[in-house]
Amino acid sequence: MKILAIESSCDETAAAVVEDGTNVLSNVINTQIELHKLYGGVVPEIASRKHIENISAVVDKALDDAGVALEEIDAVAVTYAPGLIGALLVGVSYAKGLSFAASKPLIPVHHIRGHICANYIETPSLEPPFVCLVASGGHSNIVHVKSRTDYEVIASTNDDAAGEAFDKVSRVLGLGYPGGPAIQKAAESGNSEAVRFPRVNMGEGGLDFSFSGVKTAVLNYIHNLEQRGEEINKNDIAASFQQAVIDVLSDHLITAAEERSVKTLALAGGVASNLPLRELIQKKALSRGFELYYPRPLLCTDNAAMIGCAAYYEYLAGRRADLSLNAYANMDIENPIV
Ligand code: KG4
Ligand code: ZN
Repeated sequence: MKILAIESSCDETAAAVVEDGTNVLSNVINTQIELHKLYGGVVPEIASRKHIENISAVVDKALDDAGVALEEIDAVAVTYAPGLIGALLVGVSYAKGLSFAASKPLIPVHHIRGHICANYIETPSLEPPFVCLVASGGHSNIVHVKSRTDYEVIASTNDDAAGEAFDKVSRVLGLGYPGGPAIQKAAESGNSEAVRFPRVNMGEGGLDFSFSGVKTAVLNYIHNLEQRGEEINKNDIAASFQQAVIDVLSDHLITAAEERSVKTLALAGGVASNLPLRELIQKKALSRGFELYYPRPLLCTDNAAMIGCAAYYEYLAGRRADLSLNAYANMDIENPIV
């Protein structure tokens, strides 16, 4: 079964053709990063306008690259939530038009479920159950993946998402956008033990995240140095901040898996492409006899192949949308309403 998938929830206009869940025939990503760099972060209104300009060419290229005509597609899938509402609406409207014009079923896909499913593309033999850390610019969750369509959220963030913290600290350090790769690079030349930034745990044994504290601690640290006229070592701050974040992400993931007696771990989302994070979790996983899976960086950040993969399993489970499908900025992972 060939699915044409569309993703436009943030600043990537993406389309892909995916066969039977994991066979990616094409994966086109038109990123707006250069444009948003000027403003130090994603400007929603600009993102929506660029999606409108790009979507037609991106979808055509996905079909071309796959060597299939629209008539040969079996269904159209689209990210309908969560994300930037104006950005999502572009993909949803386009997908509805295509599905109507070509008389193909329409499959609504939850963006986070898509991120998780990127793991099946990377490792088709991966079987649930597993516990997945989803860390991106908008989300930080630990999810118990019980089947390909049955998810239980174990932990969420109380404030900032992990990627958001990377982006904000990077901006303050003048390292640019997106912050994750910039911080990772600066950290390579820094000492991760130079400054002990807080590792926040929510409540007794709580697995929820809070990253606004570590972000504020970095800001205060920099302001203090500035006030005293002391030198700011950006690499040391980047390395110490990154260590604080990945310590928490890895600890919570391991604890969640232990509590559920699940021995398979997975990573997903833009922050999952962070190399020190992967290495740290791999080390902790190995010492406990856990298996760890993660997608290549291109499948960690936003793409439509992951949406086409998730859509296949949702389709098999009977999920369909009609032309009344809307976009939603927020949506429950466990029980999405469409
Ligand atoms: O999954 P994604 O492309 O979009 C959302 O759904 O949010 O994630 C983007 C986020 C950004 O905050 C970016 O700074 C972060 O992922 N990111 C990283 C790395 N690469 C991207 N964070 C840490 N280390 C990286 N190497
Ligand atoms: Zn994403």
